[in-house]
Amino acid sequence: GTDKAAVIARIKQLLLEKDVALVAHYYVDGDIQDLALETGGMVADSLEMARFGKSHPAKNLIVAGVRFMGETAKILSPEKRVFMPDLDATCSLDLGCDASDFAKFRAAHPDRVVVVYANTSAAVKAQADWMVTSSCALAIVHQLNLAGKKILWAPDRHLGRYIQEQTGADMLLWNGACIVHDEFKAVELDLLMAQYPNAMVLVHPESPQAVVDLADVVGSTSAMIKAVVEGSATEYIVATDKGILHRMQQLAPHKKLIEAPTAGNSATCKSCAHCPWMAMNGLQGILDCLENASGEIFVDEPIRVAALSCIERMLDFTK
Ligand code: 13P
Ligand code: SF4
Repeated sequence: GTDKAAVIARIKQLLLEKDVALVAHYYVDGDIQDLALETGGMVADSLEMARFGKSHPAKNLIVAGVRFMGETAKILSPEKRVFMPDLDATCSLDLGCDASDFAKFRAAHPDRVVVVYANTSAAVKAQADWMVTSSCALAIVHQLNLAGKKILWAPDRHLGRYIQEQTGADMLLWNGACIVHDEFKAVELDLLMAQYPNAMVLVHPESPQAVVDLADVVGSTSAMIKAVVEGSATEYIVATDKGILHRMQQLAPHKKLIEAPTAGNSATCKSCAHCPWMAMNGLQGILDCLENASGEIFVDEPIRVAALSCIERMLDFTK
């Protein structure tokens, strides 16, 4: 309605006036993704978000996503002020990997290279040798394995298992999961595939093994979008947060996108996959960042410095 249009217009004006860049993840509301693109910001996966925040010349960033994304931006750009529409937007992987428990796990296995997923707190990253995201995890672990390294991996057990299978690396896995992707079910997906026999099946590697095993393409959010844009199929079954369909459909308007089923649902997906924390990002939250400087992210300096090297190592590797 007009209220929404007025809020969007006001946000656009303030982004410009206050020298703020808006960067959004593919899982947040479509209006926010559009706003980021229309204002010279970016919609991206977690790897590209980190790189964008660091390289953008704006003095301030608003990160529409979940907490670890805002923290990573702040760690990489301490000279920038970094804001989030809702500081309570977290991630089940981050919640399930307490920094002091992780310290014990790590201390028990000093012979292993510590590789942590982006979806962790700054305090966990501060203990890691490498940070990875789903778009570069495979390549980085592959290289570590070639160098003869044994790996300690946290926190997503499905992604860890998938990478272990693909690389043959010796990996000790933390027992974490994403509550959104963990809900995709192979039996229901199989039924859907029978209904759409020509559909290409795209699966995010945070999904359980039985679901990953049915995929034509396993990859990060950006890899899944690329697969739809470049794929020769006309129908695609998408097993990740439904927020991604907005951008996917914009980039591939003539292709049919079908949401993969979660627990208890079949072809007619009733409670489709959507991250409750990504859903906390709203236009009003963005406006509050701009008008009231609310939602600012701070990372303690000793933790920031300790966490920085594992992120920079990843950015150098993926350059
Ligand atoms: P991507 O790095 O693939 O964007 O994934 C981030 C995430 O939170 C997936 O649930
Ligand atoms: Fe975390 Fe899963 Fe939400 Fe991504 S979708 S932020 S991994 S809970």
